[in-house]
Amino acid sequence: MLDPFTFERLSAAGELTGRRCLEIGAGGGSVAAWLADRVGPRGHVLATDLNPRHLSTDRGYTVLRHDLVTEPVPAPPWDLIHARLVLLHLPERVEILGRLAAALAPGGVLLLEEWASAYRGLVLAAPDAAAVSLVDRYHDVLADRLLPANGNDPTWAGKVHAAMLAADPRLVRGTCCAKRARR
Ligand SMILES: C[S@@+](CC[C@H](N)C(=O)[O-])C[C@H]1O[C@@H](n2cnc3c(N)ncnc32)[C@H](O)[C@@H]1O
Repeated sequence: MLDPFTFERLSAAGELTGRRCLEIGAGGGSVAAWLADRVGPRGHVLATDLNPRHLSTDRGYTVLRHDLVTEPVPAPPWDLIHARLVLLHLPERVEILGRLAAALAPGGVLLLEEWASAYRGLVLAAPDAAAVSLVDRYHDVLADRLLPANGNDPTWAGKVHAAMLAADPRLVRGTCCAKRARR
């Protein structure tokens, strides 16, 4: 569901052939596999996850079990670091962001895709008002109780830009994409 948007953003991040790419919190590995196709034989893609059980070992990327919270960023520098729906789950997100930015090669790109999960007013049509309030209640519980109780910040997507600016003002190119200045 999300991959077409991710691939579009990654395609806009510059030429990937021969690049060193780090996909953190790689989940099922679809983005890592796509990157591996793009970087080609001269490039390298490392896919990490706390729980790498869904990552394939035959899709052209390397798999590493890695904890973003407790371990340093593996094998810097990286030309591209991508994380989708990962930092929002981790209370240490700002510190991790700083470590990721520092692990970029000159000219490298840090692409963070986050999800604003404080949903409101989503129902376009419903059989009755009770159905609308049920959906609202579900999202209230999710955003106000369940997610925060598990370390997730449902408002993080709205804070990423400022956090990136604070990490390194030279890096920020857009709302969710940072490019490290060549030095
Ligand atoms: C919501 S999933 C997103 C997966 C993938 N990035 C995607 O968008 O399809 C969050 C991923 O972060 C991983 N994760 C959670 N805590 C982590 C940690 N401390 N270090 C590394 N990965 C972690 C989970 O195992 C999971 O695969």
